[in-house]
Amino acid sequence: MNTLNRQRSFFENCILQFDAALKTVAHSAVAIRPNPAQSALPALTPSEKRVSAQCMRVNHAGEIAAQGLYQGQAWSAHDPAIREKMQEAALEEVDHLAWCETRLIELESHTSYLALFWYMGSFMMGAIAGWAGDKWSLGFVAETEHQVMRHLNSHLDCVAVVDTRSREIIEKMYEDESRHATHALTAGAATLPKPIPTLMRFMAKVMTTTARWI
Ligand SMILES: [Fe+2]
Ligand SMILES: [Fe+2]
Repeated sequence: MNTLNRQRSFFENCILQFDAALKTVAHSAVAIRPNPAQSALPALTPSEKRVSAQCMRVNHAGEIAAQGLYQGQAWSAHDPAIREKMQEAALEEVDHLAWCETRLIELESHTSYLALFWYMGSFMMGAIAGWAGDKWSLGFVAETEHQVMRHLNSHLDCVAVVDTRSREIIEKMYEDESRHATHALTAGAATLPKPIPTLMRFMAKVMTTTARWI
C-alpha cells in the first residue's frame, strides 16, 4: 500500500510537472500583478524596435529557464519548506514571463522558438542543484539571480531610452530578481565553488546569444 502510495505520488508529481512545463512553453502565462509597463506605446524606429524585441525575447527565454530551474529544484528539494519556497518563487516569475510576452506582442515579434529546450535543460540543472542539497540549491538561486540582474542591467543600456514600456518591465524584473537573490541568501544559500558560476555563465551565454535571434 505504501509502495502504491509512493508510486501514485510520483506519477502525480510527473503529471503536475508536465502540466507546469506545458503551461510555461505554450504561451499561457497569466500575470497576477499588474503589468509595470504603464506608459503610452512609444514610437520606435525599426532599428529600436528590433533591439527591444531581441532584448525582450532573451528576457522571456530567461524566464522560461527560470521556470524550469525552480520547478526542477522544487522536484528534488530535500526540505518541504524549501520546495514550497521554490514553487512560490516560480509563481512570481510567471508575472515576468507574461509581461515579456505581452511586450513582444506589442513589438510585433515572437518568443524564442527553442522554449521547450530552454525549459528542459534548466529543469535538469535545477533538479541536480536540488538533489545536491538545499544550501547548494539556494546558492544556485542566488547566483542565477545575480547573473540575471547583470543581464537586465545590460539590456537597460541597449533598449532605447524612448522605449519606456520595455524599460519599465526590465526595471521591475530587476527589483524582483534582487529580492529573490536576497531571500535565497538569508535562507542559507551556500557560495558555489568557482567552476559552477563559470559554467552557469557559459550556459547563460549560449541561451542569450541564441534566443536573441531564434
Ligand atoms: Fe524573473
Ligand atoms: Fe527571480
